[in-house]
Amino acid sequence: MIISCIMGMGQKKRKKMKLSEEIKKKIEEEYNTFVEHQYAGKDLKERQKLGQFYTPPQLTIRMLEKYEDTNGSIIDPTCGAGGLLAAAIIAGFDPKLCYGIELDNEILEKVTIPRLTQLGVPKENLHHGDALNKDCWDFSIKNYKFENGKVTGDNKTCSFGASIKK
Ligand SMILES: C[S@@+](CC[C@H](N)C(=O)[O-])C[C@H]1O[C@@H](n2cnc3c(N)ncnc32)[C@H](O)[C@@H]1O
Repeated sequence: MIISCIMGMGQKKRKKMKLSEEIKKKIEEEYNTFVEHQYAGKDLKERQKLGQFYTPPQLTIRMLEKYEDTNGSIIDPTCGAGGLLAAAIIAGFDPKLCYGIELDNEILEKVTIPRLTQLGVPKENLHHGDALNKDCWDFSIKNYKFENGKVTGDNKTCSFGASIKK
């Protein structure tokens, strides 16, 4: 069952979770560990080509607080350095149910994979590819597929960055 989209689209009025100050602090600390290296040394010009501007923890926390709880799986199809997924795990999502897709293999290999595998995400959950290409969704994300420009999970339509309750 779809509970919400990370951008808050299409959600019904449900009780949202509130992250504790301790969890918020941990999310910020984890972010600060990677902030200097999160663009794998790319300059602004290179980053602009793919829109590589990563979400700061203050915004990530607000996005996570759109969720009802931390049950189910979570996917970031343009995961960049993995900040959103890292924060989701710290908030309580099961790392084995966290998935990421990223077009830039350098960021993925140098930053995202080391960062997220350290938090318990299986390497095979992190995929190099174009999330706008439907073939990209054939990989190990069993509950998701890309159809008619939309990501669907468990036969229910959801938007990018959605959480799907098992
Ligand atoms: C705005 S950043 C978002 C990163 C991450 N979601 C966050 O919140 O920090 C967008 C990322 O999407 C990647 N990207 C752009 N187009 C993509 C595509 N078609 N498929 C997968 N990744 C893509 C870029 O390389 C970049 O790392």
